[in-house]
Amino acid sequence: MRRSALVTGAAAALAAALVTPALFAPAAQAQPAPVAGRSAAPDIPVANVKAHLAQLQSIATANGGNRAHGRAGYKASVDYIKGKLDAAGYTTTLQTYSYGGATGYNLIADWPGGDTSHVVMAGAHLDSVTAGPGINDDGSGSAGILETALAVSRAGLQPAKHVRFGWWGTEEAGMVGSSNYVNKLTGADRSKIDAYLNFDMIGSPNPGYFVYDDNAALDTLFKDYFAGLGVATEPETEGDGRSDHAPFKNAGIPVGGLFSGADYIKTSAQASKWGGTAGQAFDRCYHSSCDTSANINDTVLDRMSDAIAHGIWSLATEGTPPPSGTVFENTTDFAIPDAAPPIESPITVTGRTGNAPATLKVGVDVKHTWRGDLVIDLVAPDGSTYRVKDFSGNDSADNVVATFTVNASGEVANGTWKLRVQDVASQDTGYLDSWKLTF
Ligand code: TRP
Ligand code: ZN
Ligand code: CA
Repeated sequence: MRRSALVTGAAAALAAALVTPALFAPAAQAQPAPVAGRSAAPDIPVANVKAHLAQLQSIATANGGNRAHGRAGYKASVDYIKGKLDAAGYTTTLQTYSYGGATGYNLIADWPGGDTSHVVMAGAHLDSVTAGPGINDDGSGSAGILETALAVSRAGLQPAKHVRFGWWGTEEAGMVGSSNYVNKLTGADRSKIDAYLNFDMIGSPNPGYFVYDDNAALDTLFKDYFAGLGVATEPETEGDGRSDHAPFKNAGIPVGGLFSGADYIKTSAQASKWGGTAGQAFDRCYHSSCDTSANINDTVLDRMSDAIAHGIWSLATEGTPPPSGTVFENTTDFAIPDAAPPIESPITVTGRTGNAPATLKVGVDVKHTWRGDLVIDLVAPDGSTYRVKDFSGNDSADNVVATFTVNASGEVANGTWKLRVQDVASQDTGYLDSWKLTF
């Protein structure tokens, strides 16, 4: 904006002083600030998960080599898991049904507290095939969710949502236990389950990292978690509906989950990203007698167990209505050149689920000698722009230190957001000091 020569000179000197530090410095890593109401998941000790697997192996060994529906090894497995949960303060329920002339059992464990009209649930099948002890399939998922449940208890978690775990019977005969469970829920009960997460085979010896892609938000939750570890994932395609999430999905409940691979063959492309052996099954002992406690890759078991905890913590501790308060900030200075193309400052948002809020707060701190020159846009990860400040040539005040509210509910929360700042009129100038997004 034009003004008198006298003022311009003073303003130019001031601007020069202001913009001296850190011109065009590289973007700082945005740091999420800790916020009440939402907490990070603890590390799940893989040694504890393996200790549960050793117990399931012993149970199979003591009961004819398997833990199959209708066999003594199945009920002994239920008793082992139930004992741990009862001691940890869970409310456990044994649900029975009959199949093939034998009694089947589902074990349901509710963590007291949370809003029971918003349930976050994780499940795994506890039965093996008759051919073997079923340690990867699916002792691994059973032990992973057990140790997560115990971590919830150790943390004394007081989640916003109600947390429930389920160990299913008779999956190997066609998801009999989980179908029974879902069929017995009323329509109202079904609609209270915000998410069902399934973990069937998470310790495969020649592992892959597959994320169920049935629901976009739950897919993103796990994909982002593994991206944060630097571990590549692929969508789970080895037979959609081949496990206990299928009855939930068919009942209209959002489902997600993890899978480390069964009888499909690892390709060379998969071996280069995940290690292991190309041309070999993810689990060569799938449904056979060698699915023992030796049939486990500790690394994938460890990572996927941590991911279960991350999923439960993220979903259950986010508020209802959606979580608020997490701050992401970029404090790097960016010079704003005079009457020139825009500059952009990025903030990478991770660890969110679903879309951004309708009241996304955009905090802007621009130092400038004539703020009327400035046009400011928020750019969403997909490139959509939201104008937060227009050019207003006569507005001679300095600086833009303000918080704007943007309805960003149409934007996926995770990804790289940018603040785009342009000075559109000559003579006054300044710099972007910092900006932040509050979710
Ligand atoms: N449910 C199968 C079993 O227990 C394992 C399996 C094969 C699987 N493909 C899958 C599980 C895909 C989840 C997703 O024998
Ligand atoms: Zn299975
Ligand atoms: Ca200007």
